[in-house]
Amino acid sequence: MCLLVVVGVLAVANERVDSQSFPPGFQFGAATSAYQIEGGWNASDKGESIWDRMVHSRPDFIDDRSNADVACDSYNLWEEDLRLVQEMGLDFYRFSISWPRLLPHGFSNKISEDGRRYYNAVIDGLRARGVAPVVTLYHWDLPQRLQDLGGWTNPLIVEWFADYARVAFTLFADRVSTWITINEPGSVCDGGYRGLLAPGVRDREIGALLCTKHVLLAHARAYRVYQEEFKAKYLGELSIANQESWYEPKTDQDMEITLLAREYSFGRYSHPIYSAAGGWPPALERYMADNSKKEGYPRSRLPAFTQDEIQLVKGSFDFYGLNHYTSRVVRAAAPGESLSRRAGVAAEELGAALETRPHWKTAASSWLKVNPEGLRNLLKLIKQQYGDVKILITENGYSDTGHQLDDHDRINYYKDYLEQVLLAVTEDAVRVVGYTAWSLLDNFEWTSGYTSRFGLYSVDFTSPMRPRAARASARYYTSVVRARALRVTRVADTHNATA
Ligand SMILES: *[C@@H]1O[C@H](CO)[C@@H](O)[C@H](O)[C@H]1NC(C)=O
Repeated sequence: MCLLVVVGVLAVANERVDSQSFPPGFQFGAATSAYQIEGGWNASDKGESIWDRMVHSRPDFIDDRSNADVACDSYNLWEEDLRLVQEMGLDFYRFSISWPRLLPHGFSNKISEDGRRYYNAVIDGLRARGVAPVVTLYHWDLPQRLQDLGGWTNPLIVEWFADYARVAFTLFADRVSTWITINEPGSVCDGGYRGLLAPGVRDREIGALLCTKHVLLAHARAYRVYQEEFKAKYLGELSIANQESWYEPKTDQDMEITLLAREYSFGRYSHPIYSAAGGWPPALERYMADNSKKEGYPRSRLPAFTQDEIQLVKGSFDFYGLNHYTSRVVRAAAPGESLSRRAGVAAEELGAALETRPHWKTAASSWLKVNPEGLRNLLKLIKQQYGDVKILITENGYSDTGHQLDDHDRINYYKDYLEQVLLAVTEDAVRVVGYTAWSLLDNFEWTSGYTSRFGLYSVDFTSPMRPRAARASARYYTSVVRARALRVTRVADTHNATA
């Protein structure tokens, strides 16, 4: 076991427990998103979202044919959620605004009184409990009307999103000082346009890449709206939350394909924002141009940025928002080897096979392989690529099944990943300023429906009252938050014998 800089040493029986403190000011939180918890899908004047449309029109899209019409019923039970947040002593709660709940028609000409009242209540309720709201503007529930007009492939969405952001800032920025514009642009574009998430369009070659460009411009426009119209008054901070897995080469020969896979999977969403030069990652831009030419296209399928667009996007951040769950081993696919659509976004485009290591345990979500060191490696890589940027870990968590409360596997996941965060901070001097557990509650896990659970608190979805119950991991996380330190020992666990 890697020994940390030991701040305090406690002796418990004949077991040594080392206690390692988080840096002063380090913030702890937990996260949810609107569609996954709120329910109230047709309450009051709320508009239809692309997820409402998907679950109602294509129930087979969801593993258990469920939907989030009610979900955790947080539209009605939000005070209960805030009680849990307070019970854990969290510094912040990250939640998202449903675009069609606030703007029922998608456009900013009509603001829902009910939507405004709901989010005001949540924000005021958090502040009354001493918890900072961290608000995501877009966590995948696009107004269906905008999808009907082309959604994220229509360049006009850049201004539609900026208009929506301005409404949210106007209503809430006096009480919200940390904002995430878009959650996981990679899931929005590569998931949404490879048929894996709503809107379930299959157009990886063109659609996903149009979406990529517009999502980045939309983020940047929202960032500039805040800078120009709200920053001086409220001094808030904004960023985007990228989902990044750790990719490592299978053999020394696989380094080049690994670098390209990193650029394709997340550099595409980071380099334009965080790099000194801006624009697409150069190696990826060359690769995409060559590939497109070979395929007979008159121009690169990766849409070019103008110089003005490069400048608009470059530097549109106050911190680096990172969602992280898992790791992959990358190798070049063998000639003629067929790679499944679920093998990852880099598979079809690059011929990169993404594998896992046998000793990486699998969570209930088949994609979630546990490799805690991957998080430290990724944090180091971000610093190496983009400089000494403040990093807020905006999601990290573990799924299991059912609503058992004794979740030692989840405790081990949090403990091991938090240990790697501490190592990145103390050993590698990476500026991690906060950590967000995904998720506060069991909720609607997209195409997995309710078959996999990420909650620190379980929710009984069979009961109309949707009762919440603390899991062992909620008590564990509470103890970390209270102590502002990690006690580095293993919880006894029959499934995981790392002693
Ligand atoms: C809202 O949706 C539910 C199904 O989730 C349905 O039973 C109800 O009739 C709908 N209400 C309105 C006002 O459309």
